[in-house]
Parts: sequence; C-alpha cells; structure tokens
Amino acid sequence: MNQPPRHLLQIEGLHPPQIAAMLNVAESYVLLNRSGKTQRDLLRGRTLINLFFEDSTRTRTSFELAGKRLGADVINMSVSTSSVNKGETLLDTAATLNAMHCDLLVVRHDQSGAPALLAQKVDAAVINAGDGTHEHPTQALLDALTIRRRRGRLEGLVVAICGDILHSRVARSNIHLLTTMGSQVRVIGPPTLIPPEAERLGVTVFHDMQRGLEGADIVMALRLQKERMARGLVPSAREFFRFYGLDAAKLAWAKPDALVMHPGPMNRGVEIDSAVADDPAHSVIREQVEMGVAVRMAVLDLLSRRSRRND
Ligand code: NCD
Repeated sequence: MNQPPRHLLQIEGLHPPQIAAMLNVAESYVLLNRSGKTQRDLLRGRTLINLFFEDSTRTRTSFELAGKRLGADVINMSVSTSSVNKGETLLDTAATLNAMHCDLLVVRHDQSGAPALLAQKVDAAVINAGDGTHEHPTQALLDALTIRRRRGRLEGLVVAICGDILHSRVARSNIHLLTTMGSQVRVIGPPTLIPPEAERLGVTVFHDMQRGLEGADIVMALRLQKERMARGLVPSAREFFRFYGLDAAKLAWAKPDALVMHPGPMNRGVEIDSAVADDPAHSVIREQVEMGVAVRMAVLDLLSRRSRRND
C-alpha cells in the first residue's frame, strides 16, 4: 500500500500511506538541506530531464536543485508549444528522450494529460510538474508538508482555498491530497471560477469570503489564471480584490493563528495583499518554496528506487 508509484502523474488515486510515506521521506530531506549536507551519491550517473512546455520559475529551479543535490545530471529543455501539433510532437519527443536514456523526466505542459501520454511512451519515470488545469502533484505534496510541519497533522484541519479554482491544477491536486488525508476542504470564489464538479470532489463551496473563511486553519490564495481564461470571467482585478483578495480584514475571519499560503507567482493587490503575503505571523509562503526542494528530492529518490534496485 505504501509502495511509491512508478510515475507521479497525479495525486488522485494515491492512498493515505503512500502520501504519508512521501511526506516522511521529504521531511528527512528538509533536515538534510538545513544541515548543509548533500547526498550526491544517490543519483550519480542518472539523467534527469526537465521538459517544460510552459513558463515556470519555482518548479523548474527546484527540480533542478533537487536533482543536483542528489547527484543527478540535470538537463533543462524549454519548448514552446505555440506552433506544434501536440500528439505528434510529444511522441517525437518521447522517442528522442528514450534514445538519450533519460532516467527521470519532469514534464510541464499546457495540455491536461500530456505527462500521462509521455509516460506510456518513455522508459523514464515521469513526474508531472503541472499539466493544463489537471494536476500539479508535487505542489500539493509541498503544501501538505508545510502544513504538517506547522500543525503536526493534516487530519481535521479546515483548509480554505480561495480564488480561481476553475483553472487551478494546484487546487485540484490539493483537494485530492487534503481530502484523502482527512482535512476539511472549502473552496471560495465567484461562481464563474468554481468548477461545476467541485462538490463531487468532496469540498464545500462558498461564494462569500466571510462565510468561507470562518474557522479556517489554513487559507490558500490562488492567482487568477488569465492565460487559461477564454473570456473575462471576472469584471476587473480591482473588483476581484474587493470581494476575494486576501487582506488583513478578511484574514481576521479565519482562526487567529491561521496560516496563509500561496503557490506563487503572486499577483499582489489582486488575490492577496502585500501586507498579508509578507506578514511573518501568518504567511508561510517562503517556507513553501523551501519545502518544494525537499519534496522534489523525495520524489526523485522514491521514483528512482525501482531502477536503482535493478542495477
Ligand atoms: C502554479 C502553476 O504553475 O500551476 N505555480 C507553481 O507551480 N508554483 C500556479 C500558477 O501558475 O498560478
């Protein structure tokens, strides 16, 4: 039950012991990173390719850092999707990657399902670094690790995810992970930004920030993903901030010691006010970035265990 999966394509379908095992290994990497030590023998001689068809700052660099800290050879490939035929290009790419004998493949793509398609065609273990509006599993793991380290558990916590839920793969992965681990998840946003299937995912939907935030242990703000919006789903950024932007007045509706999270990149003054984002009494946004490196080291370690055994 706590066997690591062959690929990490999504959180949906993982069992609580598998998630807990990944978080436990990540925890040990937090301590290793803080001690200033490395473990460069672990992935020595292994090749990790970062294949990014979409922009990324944190995710790409943290996978790179994670790979290097474990001794892998890391190659970054950035590809533009603008003019490509998805199916054909992905399959061509898969053939190229196989020829290069890549061991670990980290993929970000603007089409949901692209990493899963690649996983069928490459010999490498594939890690989804965000696919369209589908999932972003390592983000959910790093968010869970951040929460678990601060609160000692995930079970029974009230987590409010605010803003553009509809386009957010971060929200989807977090919903799957947190509900699987026994948290109570709420989503808060205007009706145009809440997916119709939200309630089937086991969350409670709110359109009013006050009602949604009352009693929340964790408040997660999300960026308005304009690049995924076919047409204006919100009247204006200023209007959005007035009703849904997380500022000190709205945060006061949550528990007094509520933690504030954001996956980045932040649009200050739209979904979150600077004063809240930078408030050390609540914000764990920087810690999320630190946890990101540890979680990615854990995932690279766990997914390569299978092939390391066969050496
Ligand atoms: C997110 C993403 O790309 O899904 N960012 C991230 O990986 N930390 C969220 C976003 O783009 O708003």
